[in-house]
Amino acid sequence: MSRNNVIAGIDIGSSSVRTVIAQEMRGEESLRIVGVGIVSSSGIRRGAIIDIDEAAKAINESVALAERMSGSEIRKAFVSIGGNDISLENSKGVVAIGRADGEVGEDDINRVITEAQAIPLPMNKDILHIIPKKYRLDDQDNIKNPLGMRGVRLEVEALVVESSAAHVKNLTKSLYQAGVEIEDIALEPLASAKSILTKKQKELGVVLVNIGGGTTSLAVFEEGEILHTAILPVGAGHITNDIAIGLRTSIEVAERIKLEYGTALSREVNHKEEIDISRFDSQEEGYVSRYHVSEIIEARMGEILEMVQNELKKIGKAGLLPAGAVLVGGGAKLPAVNELAKEILKLPIQTGFPNGFTGVLDKVDDPSFATAAGLLLWSRDHYMGGNSAMGGGDNVLGPIFEGAGHTVEKVRGWIGKFLP
Ligand SMILES: Nc1ncnc2c1ncn2[C@@H]1O[C@H](COP(=O)(O)OP(=O)(O)OP(=O)(O)O)[C@@H](O)[C@H]1O
Ligand SMILES: [Mg+2]
Repeated sequence: MSRNNVIAGIDIGSSSVRTVIAQEMRGEESLRIVGVGIVSSSGIRRGAIIDIDEAAKAINESVALAERMSGSEIRKAFVSIGGNDISLENSKGVVAIGRADGEVGEDDINRVITEAQAIPLPMNKDILHIIPKKYRLDDQDNIKNPLGMRGVRLEVEALVVESSAAHVKNLTKSLYQAGVEIEDIALEPLASAKSILTKKQKELGVVLVNIGGGTTSLAVFEEGEILHTAILPVGAGHITNDIAIGLRTSIEVAERIKLEYGTALSREVNHKEEIDISRFDSQEEGYVSRYHVSEIIEARMGEILEMVQNELKKIGKAGLLPAGAVLVGGGAKLPAVNELAKEILKLPIQTGFPNGFTGVLDKVDDPSFATAAGLLLWSRDHYMGGNSAMGGGDNVLGPIFEGAGHTVEKVRGWIGKFLP
């Protein structure tokens, strides 16, 4: 924790940039939210930065709003990374235990994770996360945390998450320009999962689905381990575009119609119900059928959910996750989306709200704050250091190279190489 116990998370989304500032209170388990800043995004499309100056401006405004509310300034923050060019690789590392008595120390764990990182990396890719899934010590397999055990040879199976190097560079530059130092970067669906999913859900088998403005991301867990994560290039913003085209209205009018009259299940809408367009734009006149609007929404949301189902099929988990799907992001607030998701994913469906916070809760107690809230929890664990995040516990996903303080420097070095 920094000296004044204030930490910050910035979710750089396609629709909104959200900054959340929290304070860790002595003796309290929950983080207290003290500042929230939300502004409309610019320079960000489908989760990736396409205009550094524009994005920096939005980030700067969002940070300034949160700082004003909290009365404290932030220099550093945990930030999320989206975009649809992530790739996953399974990797292994093997080391001999260093100590003569064979007891596994933190340095052994770090060395074996570093070994797992040694994969051939294409020039245009950067490693975002190395997530240890399980360890093997000599003949004993499926170990979640080998610290303190005795053996000769330690192996780790890890998931390596890579992102496009250009994308990481643009993100780093935008934050630098906005005057914020990056503490660490977290993949958006993994940050969201951190604030939303419980240990029990992750043990049973669950998929977190974040339906954002420009992307839909997912993270699948089973037996406490991450199985899969993906970012799909379609989100709830595409519904707005479809309505604008279908009704021949502006994007602004289409967005307002979606928010006020939208529902994901057309069969629940009375065919005779009409929407007066002049209410949204004095330049326009006439009525449109609400049933027609809901058909447009259902078609696009159905397509998004089918894409999620395809990701589950790829890993052989379609319809097979007992804790079901938890929906977050702005798109999760669309009426009847849970019913549609239940039909397509054939799973129990819930809406996710961030866990573990007090303070100005009304703002953050919202499915679209999943990512920003998760970044705060990530940041807190990062400062706690130690190996609290080494699998086993609630935090299957700890910071990069979780497990020891000195590795943080490595990460900083990695970020540093992108700074202008
Ligand atoms: N109450 C609501 N009903 C329906 N849709 C909503 C509601 N509130 C927000 N949305 C939609 O959610 C989308 C924005 O979601 P969110 O804020 O999670 O996106 P983001 O994080 O900025 O984008 P991304 O994660 O894709 O980069 C917009 O398309 C918006 O119209
Ligand atoms: Mg988002």
